[in-house]
Amino acid sequence: MPQQRLRRSVLSVPGSNPRMMEKAAASAADEVFLDLEDATAPLEKPGARAKVVEALTTHDWGDKVKVVRINQVTGRYAFRDILEVIEGAGRVLDCIMIPKVQNPGDVAFVDRALTQLELELDLEPGRIGVEAQIEDPQGLVHCEAIATASPRVETLIFGPADFKASMQMPSLSVSGDIPTYPGDYFHYPLMRLAVAARAAGIQVIDGPYLAIRDLEGFATVARRAAALGYDGKWALHPGQIEPCNEAFTPTQEQFERAVQILDAYQHATEIERRGAVMLGDEMIDEASRKMAEQFFLRGRKAGLSPREPARAAAQ
Ligand code: GLV
Ligand code: MG
Repeated sequence: MPQQRLRRSVLSVPGSNPRMMEKAAASAADEVFLDLEDATAPLEKPGARAKVVEALTTHDWGDKVKVVRINQVTGRYAFRDILEVIEGAGRVLDCIMIPKVQNPGDVAFVDRALTQLELELDLEPGRIGVEAQIEDPQGLVHCEAIATASPRVETLIFGPADFKASMQMPSLSVSGDIPTYPGDYFHYPLMRLAVAARAAGIQVIDGPYLAIRDLEGFATVARRAAALGYDGKWALHPGQIEPCNEAFTPTQEQFERAVQILDAYQHATEIERRGAVMLGDEMIDEASRKMAEQFFLRGRKAGLSPREPARAAAQ
């Protein structure tokens, strides 16, 4: 089973900007990815690799997940991106993010390149993970196979901006709704990626919200993804980190209710030998236990702990 790291907020930083990378290291994001792809201008791309290596190896990143987004593997930059980043920072990097993944072969290419470099550089085999961005129709129709293309794959990531562009959706921004469409026009890809990721036992992350001053809109969209079971979402600006962490962390009340359900269910099954019991106004059974367990695990991963009365109330 691939690593299930804390990834509520995934901060995007241009790999060509040393100052922003330094600030990102001190941020409250769970993950930071240094971008060699679309946030770095083509003329800056070759020089950005060394800047990314420098940032990864000099700043104190705490326990953040440290990731580099390489360029699309069908283009001219990806091979050297992998080579230079792993040669320079392979010991500290956690994952490579691959944009615009279209089929399992794209992942296999990166997987094998990493394996070769691990052997050559005497790095721990298989330690560096892969994050696969799905942002076009080819990627979406192959997302199940992409999720299982390598044991390195830790997450699928939805890329709404490129997805909109590649689907020719009539919109000029990635924020809010398209007024002529009554529902959430991203529901289908979001749900499909969530199913593919869960079936493969990996995480699933929502992409960016580009209206960085609209924190209300950001929180709404983040909560939508959280409601579908997503593990986290990108932040393009430090201001988006806090609402992001909040959207993907259970509240203290939810966490305590989960503890109550787990305790009451354990008591019912192990002491009373009953599979379904009432807890307050609701009947709980094995499925309730599984739902509560999710809240419990997420809450604990985010540092929550039950206040004593929650446990006592369940007895
Ligand atoms: C992110 O890369 C996106 O295209 O939304
Ligand atoms: Mg993109």
